[in-house]
Amino acid sequence: MKPVTVPALLASGRTADVYLVDDRRVLRRYRAGGDVAAEAEVMRHLRASGYPVPAVHRADGPDLVLERLVGPTLAEAYVRGDVDTTDGARLLADLHARLHALPAARSSDPDVRILHLDLHPENVVLTPAGPVVIDWANATEGPAELDTAMTALILAEVATDRDTPLSTPARELLVGYLAATGPARLLAGAATLRADTGPLDAARLAEATALVRGLSAG
Ligand SMILES: Nc1ncnc2c1ncn2[C@@H]1O[C@H](COP(=O)(O)OP(=O)(O)O)[C@@H](O)[C@H]1O
Ligand SMILES: [Mg+2]
Repeated sequence: MKPVTVPALLASGRTADVYLVDDRRVLRRYRAGGDVAAEAEVMRHLRASGYPVPAVHRADGPDLVLERLVGPTLAEAYVRGDVDTTDGARLLADLHARLHALPAARSSDPDVRILHLDLHPENVVLTPAGPVVIDWANATEGPAELDTAMTALILAEVATDRDTPLSTPARELLVGYLAATGPARLLAGAATLRADTGPLDAARLAEATALVRGLSAG
């Protein structure tokens, strides 16, 4: 009789559990169910365009079988002190700039770009071959500055959280990120989206938004 094997749980994010399939592949499964079809489509498009995303082997309901990435997240490397603030901020800004340089898959409007809308240090894996962007659940098409405003806002959410030792490093990263990208012009739009998709209540979100606005004003 063939023994039953239970795949090893590699990581649990906010929405998904990630299991090891074998040396080269992982299974990323949404805990709440759902359909990964759109996410898989954008990842395949980006990979074909030369953007650093994991290869998609299979997409089925809430399950994605992905190329396994090996390396720390940018968040882990930054907290350990292996990546400094300037390099971490520039890396996030550079990954955005490279994404927004690509033509959209659906729209032919030159001002419409592919957006990640959740590009923060936990969604960047530092592999030996270079940084790779994961977690394309929120990806869509729209104005590039909405994406950069969203990253600034997500960093500000951590920076304004009094209950985490990460607030100071997050604030430093936010300052560096805004220095690299320029002021967050589409902040109001990002805040509206984040009210629906993010973890914070209205008062906390307003606090984070105010920090980005203040820093953007110089
Ligand atoms: N392709 C992959 N290879 C190895 N680990 C991965 C891969 N994709 C995700 N992970 C791990 O799983 C965690 C959660 O994945 P993520 O896609 O960010 O889901 P969530 O929406 O839950 O944040 C990541 O922080 C990372 O540690
Ligand atoms: Mg994630």
